[in-house]
Amino acid sequence: PIKVTKIACIGAGYVGGPTCSMIAHKCPHIQVTIVDMNQERIDAWNSDTLPIYEPGLEEVVKKCRGKNLFFSTDIDKAIIEADLIFVSVNTPTKKTGVGAGYAADLFYVESCTRRIASVATSSKIVVEKSTVPCRTAQSMRTILEANSRPGLRFDILSNPEFLAEGTAMSDLDKPDRVLIGSLSTPEGRAAQTSLIEVYSNWVPKEKVIGTGLWSSELTKLAANAILAQRISSINALSAICEVTGADVDEVAYACGLDSRIGPKFLKSSVGFGGSCFQKDILNLVYLSESLHLPEVADYWRQVITMNEYQKSRFAKTVVSSMFNTITNKKLAVLGFAFKKDTGDTRETPSATVCRFFRQENAKISIYDPKVSEKQIFLDLTEPGVVDDAAAAKKQVTVCQSAMEACTGAEGICILTEWDEFKQLDWPAIYKSMAKPAMVFDGRGILEADKLREIGFKVFSIGKGVNL
Ligand code: NAD
Ligand code: UDX
Repeated sequence: PIKVTKIACIGAGYVGGPTCSMIAHKCPHIQVTIVDMNQERIDAWNSDTLPIYEPGLEEVVKKCRGKNLFFSTDIDKAIIEADLIFVSVNTPTKKTGVGAGYAADLFYVESCTRRIASVATSSKIVVEKSTVPCRTAQSMRTILEANSRPGLRFDILSNPEFLAEGTAMSDLDKPDRVLIGSLSTPEGRAAQTSLIEVYSNWVPKEKVIGTGLWSSELTKLAANAILAQRISSINALSAICEVTGADVDEVAYACGLDSRIGPKFLKSSVGFGGSCFQKDILNLVYLSESLHLPEVADYWRQVITMNEYQKSRFAKTVVSSMFNTITNKKLAVLGFAFKKDTGDTRETPSATVCRFFRQENAKISIYDPKVSEKQIFLDLTEPGVVDDAAAAKKQVTVCQSAMEACTGAEGICILTEWDEFKQLDWPAIYKSMAKPAMVFDGRGILEADKLREIGFKVFSIGKGVNL
């Protein structure tokens, strides 16, 4: 096995940035260069304001940057110098063509694979870090072998990333496991050993698992599908709770005490968001269909159907509770990110709910501690629809504080579980609102009884006694 001394990471996003910054932090003897074709993103990585917000990330970047951690747009140079290359580019759901709406778009993975093949002047270990459909490693190998200079070797590993946004740095510091898939040839095993050695600088040996390539690729899709399935399961139960008078948090707690079930990922919500769950399940559905397993495809598809139902159920509850019309009513939306401690809004349920409110002609005031006004408008307008941006500006206001968003509102929706929302001055908010003042807690973070004492009418997801 070769000893890795120089690592390149192609893709300076939510995964490439934090993962390779952590490697630089834990392995001072390894030079890490993170490259991207997006100049603006690289400039931000090299500035005081990093392009992504992640607790603990800034400290690590500031400590290592310029020493053994570099951010650059010179992709070719990084490829030429590295002995190991992480491919961490985006793999979004295809919008058009075969598999549109389900399959992962492998354009970015393929284009950087071809780039590696055309510029490499020495042998490389190429590591698939992006989440990809099964067998992508095989395609990458074929492309590399068909296009590279004679005499060079390329060993492909699959090393899927399990970090969650908002906790990325602690997940990377203490991963539950690190998975490294390889071919079972002596060369494949040797490459696997080289990468194991990198991780062994901080991850206990027993947590680094070697598997075949296929298993590794499928495990990533499977893990996300199972996690999302737990959320859809508890959300399905939340609908029963609301009708029967049961309390979803009590049900989740009592179920979670069974050691076979466990307590995590059973928090009922307005629905799951984020760039991964939906995309990866759709990918699994597509794989199942391609393998002629329609029952399996239907099974996983239902996890997404339930999530869509949960979002629209919440939005409809708001309208029906507000006497069946929200036209021209001011609604405060607290939280726009898909979860707390991130500024990421990809697939955020808050956007779905706000779009629904827009259709109902409400006036929406949004506050999120980490999402920019520009991003919120991007997420709430239809690209290409004439005058939609202007219409959105009339309907939607982005506020600088929760208090500002709530002042004069008739209803408040909690759509992200930011800690600061638990500590708001609720009596002052109540005073400032139109009456009856309503709170719709889509994250189950508020103490409904205390709010009711103040005078609010309160709806909490999955609670039988509401408003
Ligand atoms: P991202 O969009 O934040 O970052 C991807 C970056 O790759 C972009 O900055 C883009 O400019 C760059 N890029 C694309 N093609 C390139 C090329 N040919 N050359 C150079 N740069 C190129 O995406 P992300 O959230 O970091 O996700 C990356 C992958 O990791 C995806 O496959 C995703 O499914 C997977 N993943 C994401 C998470 C997560 O929490 N976001 C977690 C685990 C796995
Ligand atoms: C997920 C996986 O957890 C991670 O392992 C993978 O690498 C990437 O995808 P991420 O999407 O960043 O991570 O965040 P996660 O904590 O999984 O939350 C996803 C969504 O589910 C969020 O919208 C969150 O609010 C929601 N959620 C999570 C719930 O509604 N209830 C829960 O109990 C947990």
